[in-house]
Amino acid sequence: MKYNVGLENVKNGLEAVLVFENEKVENPVFNKMNELGLFSGKEGEVVIFRDLEDKEKVALVGLGKKEDICINKVRKIFYNVAKEMQAKKEEEIKVFIPKLNELCTRRTYAAALEGFIHAEYKFDRYKSEKVNNKEITVNFFVTPEKEEKVKKGLKKIANTMEGVFFTRDLVNMPSQDLYPETLANFAKEKLEEVGVKVTVYEEDEIEKIGMKAFLSVARGSSNRPRLIVMEYLNDADSSEKIALVGKGVTYDTGGYSIKPSEGMKTMFCDMGGAGTVIGTMYALAKNNVKTNVYAVVAACENSISGNAYKPGDVIGSLAGKSIEVDNTDAEGRLTLADAVYYSSTVLKVDKIIDLATLTGACLVALNEFYTGSVTNNQELFNEVLEASKKAGEPIWQLPTSDEFRALNNSRVADIKNSGGRMGGTISAGLFIEAFVNKTPWVHLDIAGTAFLSKEYSYLPLGATGVHVKTLVEMLDKPCGCKN
Ligand code: BES
Ligand code: MN
Ligand code: ZN
Repeated sequence: MKYNVGLENVKNGLEAVLVFENEKVENPVFNKMNELGLFSGKEGEVVIFRDLEDKEKVALVGLGKKEDICINKVRKIFYNVAKEMQAKKEEEIKVFIPKLNELCTRRTYAAALEGFIHAEYKFDRYKSEKVNNKEITVNFFVTPEKEEKVKKGLKKIANTMEGVFFTRDLVNMPSQDLYPETLANFAKEKLEEVGVKVTVYEEDEIEKIGMKAFLSVARGSSNRPRLIVMEYLNDADSSEKIALVGKGVTYDTGGYSIKPSEGMKTMFCDMGGAGTVIGTMYALAKNNVKTNVYAVVAACENSISGNAYKPGDVIGSLAGKSIEVDNTDAEGRLTLADAVYYSSTVLKVDKIIDLATLTGACLVALNEFYTGSVTNNQELFNEVLEASKKAGEPIWQLPTSDEFRALNNSRVADIKNSGGRMGGTISAGLFIEAFVNKTPWVHLDIAGTAFLSKEYSYLPLGATGVHVKTLVEMLDKPCGCKN
């Protein structure tokens, strides 16, 4: 994928002709296709036409109903253009986008480029034969007074999408290649390149720190745990620091509360939260965003062996609270409890956002369409929500109350690690809340959105890299526009 701004088109490239549904444009190919009933401007419609002498070479692009256009539709529309170009082996296109209703020009162009980039993702690491699509070049045209702003927006989304693709590659990788040690190595290798400091703690050091809950989960696997702490401090004018905490269970068998094999099969994706925070750190650094961020991943495997933790065990935690293990399959919250408490007390951050493929209940509630959220701070949640809307990565806030908190009460210990099936996303979130030490905190349950069972809109089957864009959007506020 290559893009230029304001360059002349090479002779052979297509020209994009953008058409709202049931509107007319001055273009001979449009007239013909429209007359024949082959193109009417419906959302997502793309017709590529080249005549035999190569005089007319256009891509008719349907924008749908004028009143419905929005940034997320722009992403999907240009994703479709790219897919159709791949199918027709077209390599170059010229795109001018007029002002679409009230949409910000910078965001509109960025969304178009994002759509083109999404169409390029593939995960073929384990295929002997790789499909090599022709590289597409997009020549964007912009009115001169907007050019500088648009260029910045394009550069930013191109960098951010590198982070998204890095996340997807990590999350798609099966557990024989991606386990705590290799996850730490992949993170270190890629992040140090862009100036993020990465510290990896091995088991003896994790023990010294006192992360007993995390280590209990890790006990059953011969792939030993790692605590990965990433540091990007790039705003000397501010003392405020935020921690992004990602669930890093590189495989979740369920432990002795073992999963049925159907539900286990894709559990290499259970480090989706870790993937997102690592990809976000990459994108922030690549964009030179002015902010101070830590990312924390307590990476381990939830497995069985003679040494594994068992249902009924009472374990300790970094916070000093005792935890009854009600279910060894509720392992993510145990690792996160120590990771968020570490962020609050050792890193001394002012805010925490955790991301985790935490509960099957979240899929029951919100399908693969929305991330579920629980918070102890409405203001911080609202910031995350606003950014997620701009990024096109929907989030839905779930209610909290003492009735839900009481589900985690234990008869024998200070708290137990499962509040049961009903309202399971909320009780899981509130378990983590008990360890954030009152730090303003937002929990994002990405069990449904991090890894898709089928492709959806411009997102592929498998890992999505969800919320890398949201977090970059939130931590870097360049535009100030409303959409
Ligand atoms: N990793 C799973 C949650 C999950 C399920 C992620 C489906 C992605 C897709 C998590 O560790 C888990 O097993 N949760 C249990 C909790 C229960 C035992 C309280 C669940 O959701 O069944
Ligand atoms: Mn589990
Ligand atoms: Zn899990």
